[in-house]
Amino acid sequence: AQDKRESLYILNQWASKFFKQNLWETDFGKSIGLSYFKERGYREDIIKKFELGYSPDQWTTLVDEAKKAGFHESFLAELGLAIERDDKSLYDRFRGRVIFPIHNLTGRVIGFGGRTLKTEKSVAKYVNSPESEIYHKSDVLYGLNFAKKAIMDADLCYLVEGYADVIAMHQTGVENVVSSSGTSLTTGQIKLISRFTKNVVILYDGDAAGIKASLRGTDMLLEEGLNVKVLLFPDGNDPDSYAKQVGSSVFKEYIEKNQEDFIFYKTNILLKDAKDDPIKRAEVIREVVTSIALIPDEIKVSVFIRQCSSLLDIEERILLSELNKIRLGKA
Ligand code: CTP
Ligand code: MN
Ligand code: MN
Ligand code: MN
Ligand code: MN
Repeated sequence: AQDKRESLYILNQWASKFFKQNLWETDFGKSIGLSYFKERGYREDIIKKFELGYSPDQWTTLVDEAKKAGFHESFLAELGLAIERDDKSLYDRFRGRVIFPIHNLTGRVIGFGGRTLKTEKSVAKYVNSPESEIYHKSDVLYGLNFAKKAIMDADLCYLVEGYADVIAMHQTGVENVVSSSGTSLTTGQIKLISRFTKNVVILYDGDAAGIKASLRGTDMLLEEGLNVKVLLFPDGNDPDSYAKQVGSSVFKEYIEKNQEDFIFYKTNILLKDAKDDPIKRAEVIREVVTSIALIPDEIKVSVFIRQCSSLLDIEERILLSELNKIRLGKA
C-alpha cells in the first residue's frame, strides 16, 4: 500500500513537470498559458514558485506521454489525471487550462486545479482533481506548504477563497495565507491551521457568496477555539483583484487597517438588513449571541458579551440570559 501511494506521488510529480514544460517550453503554452498569467499580473518568479503550468488543448497528450514514460493506466485514472470512457480508454481531464498544482505540507503534489481561459459561463471555471488515496480535499489547505513558516512568524493566518488569491498575496509580500479552494471550510482544515496559529483573518470575496461563507467560517473557527477577524474588499473584489487594482502597498495597508473583530463584522452585516425593524434587531442580537455561545473559552465569552452589550446597547444581563438559553437549547 505504501508502494502504491509512493507511485501515485511520483506520477503526480511527473504530471506537474509535464504541465510546467507545456507552459514554459511550447509555443502554445507560452502564447496562451504564460501570457494569461502575465496578463493577470503574475511575475515569473511567482509563476515558478507555485509551479504553475498549462495543459495542452488536446484529448490524450498527457495520457500518451505518461504511458510512454511507463506509468500505469490505472494510476492515471485513480489520480483523476485521466478519465475513463465507456470502452475503458482514457482521455485527459485537464485540457487547455492553466494548472495550479496542489501540494501537501511536505511539498509533494497531491492534486491539481485547472482554470479555463474561456469566458463563456457554460464552461466550468475550475476543474479539480478528484479525491484519491493521496488527496483528501477536506484535509488540505492550498498554499499551506508555502505559508507555514510565515504563519508561525506572524502568529496569524489569512484565509482566502481561491488559488489566485493565495498567489496574488504572496506577490504583494504577504505569505501567511491559505485557501480552502472551493470546498467550504472544514473542521479538518481548521485543525490544520491551529497547528500553526490560533489567529485567523478571513479575507473572502466581497460578494454575496463570500459574505455568507465568511459568517459560516467564523462560527466554525470560533467553535474550534480560534480568534477570528474578518475583512471584506470593496465593490465585490477578492484579494487577487483588489491587489491588482490598488498595488502592493495600498493592499497591505488595507488589510492591516480594516480587519474587524468578528463581532463587529457580523453585527454590522446583520444590522444593515434589519434597519430599524425591532423584531429584526432582536433577531440580530440572538444571531450574534449564538456565535459567542460557540466559543469554548469562558473568559473570551464574557469579553465578547461585554463588547456586544455596548455595541448593541443591550444590558449584559439580558445577553447572558440569552446565551444560557441558546446553550441549553443546544445541549
Ligand atoms: N472553485 C472551484 N470550482 C469552481 C469555482 C471555484 O473549484 N467552479 C474554487 C477554486 O479553488 C477557486 C475558489 O473556489 O479558486 C474561489 O472561486 P472564485 O472566487 O469563483 O474564483 P477565483 O479564485 O476568484 O478565480 P479567478 O480569479 O481565476 O476568477
Ligand atoms: Mn488516506
Ligand atoms: Mn468567490
Ligand atoms: Mn474569487
Ligand atoms: Mn479572483
